[in-house]
Amino acid sequence: MNPYDPGIPVPPERFAGRRRLIDRTQDLLEKARQERSNSSLLLHGHRGSGKTSALRKVQALALEKDPRTVHVEVPLRQRHGEAALLSDIADELQRFGEARKSTGSFFQRLHSRLSSVSVSVLGTGVAVAKSTPGRTLNPLSLWKATMTAAAEAPLVVISIDDAELLDDPGIGTLKTIAESNLEVPVLLVVAGGPELWARLSLRGGSPVARIFSGSTFDMSDFTREETEEALAAPLRSRGPRTSWDPAAVQRVQDLSHGYPYLVQCLACAAYHEGTISREDVEAGIEGAVEMAGPWLQHELERASDEDIRAFVRIADSRRSALRTTEILQLGVLPPYVPRLVRLGVLEQVARGHYVLKKAPVIAYYHALRRNLT
Ligand SMILES: Nc1ncnc2c1ncn2[C@@H]1O[C@H](COP(=O)(O)OP(=O)(O)O)[C@@H](O)[C@H]1O
Ligand SMILES: [Mg+2]
Repeated sequence: MNPYDPGIPVPPERFAGRRRLIDRTQDLLEKARQERSNSSLLLHGHRGSGKTSALRKVQALALEKDPRTVHVEVPLRQRHGEAALLSDIADELQRFGEARKSTGSFFQRLHSRLSSVSVSVLGTGVAVAKSTPGRTLNPLSLWKATMTAAAEAPLVVISIDDAELLDDPGIGTLKTIAESNLEVPVLLVVAGGPELWARLSLRGGSPVARIFSGSTFDMSDFTREETEEALAAPLRSRGPRTSWDPAAVQRVQDLSHGYPYLVQCLACAAYHEGTISREDVEAGIEGAVEMAGPWLQHELERASDEDIRAFVRIADSRRSALRTTEILQLGVLPPYVPRLVRLGVLEQVARGHYVLKKAPVIAYYHALRRNLT
């Protein structure tokens, strides 16, 4: 069985690298245990950079710390405001209680407390308080009542994935959650694309941005050591017979630029039992490109090789906002700046100022597919 799968978030036991995030999470978990205080983490990055994997890792660390941790994950699939966000969290808490109720007396009690909070009037999105029948609960009261039902837990981890789908009031709700003063401490973990980060930092120093101060993580490309760990982690349980030759690790790093999704595609395509060599990685390129195709092949189909090379240079700079002079310093020739604007790779935001609009993985994918180095 091939242990690499680019199609799904990596399971926590194979999660590689991101040491700073892990250390920070451990600190916050310890703080929650000692002081029963809330804290928040913000993970931002392009698609395929490992945000969902990181949310799951944080949940797993919290569970390792204390198995009675209550955790809910709310993946947003459409635009969300305050009401939708709070009721989704409340629903997920109910579901968590339901799923755990037969796993011991602690969770059985949690489930019965949760299920005494409200009954929802089917299909209307309205919840009615069980304690005072006839009284409907607004989403904030419903959320608070649900959280209060979890008061015996050491911690409630609330993960919100793809949070760029929050509207402005929805973003404001993050502050309400982070600053809630309930009996149970909350660890709020928010993951979203670069546009979420841009919106938060535009409000620079805003109250919402402040809840994440010191706890913001850019899920950028893996270092070579992180790539090595990501390649090795799934093999740990397989004994010493299968391993990656150092030259193969370096080749994966060079071809993927450390982009987690592409590392996984290349690993999956090169994998076999025994020693995996640089040649195996080369031979796997075509397969890796095919795996990434459904997601990436329709992006920049009409770009020339030189456009892609220019985009790779910009992507490698790891900057999302650049001035003309900075772009030229990267070795991009002047005519390629307006060309990249026409392709939608760059957007001119002011005279001589650009922002990167397309994910770096698109550049790296095309470089692989077209064999550009
Ligand atoms: N820390 C990590 N260790 C190993 N593989 C990772 C890691 N982070 C991401 N990946 C791989 O990258 C791919 C994309 O990860 P995912 O968490 O789905 O990204 P996102 O949520 O940002 O789109 C997955 O195939 C996953 O296996
Ligand atoms: Mg994701």
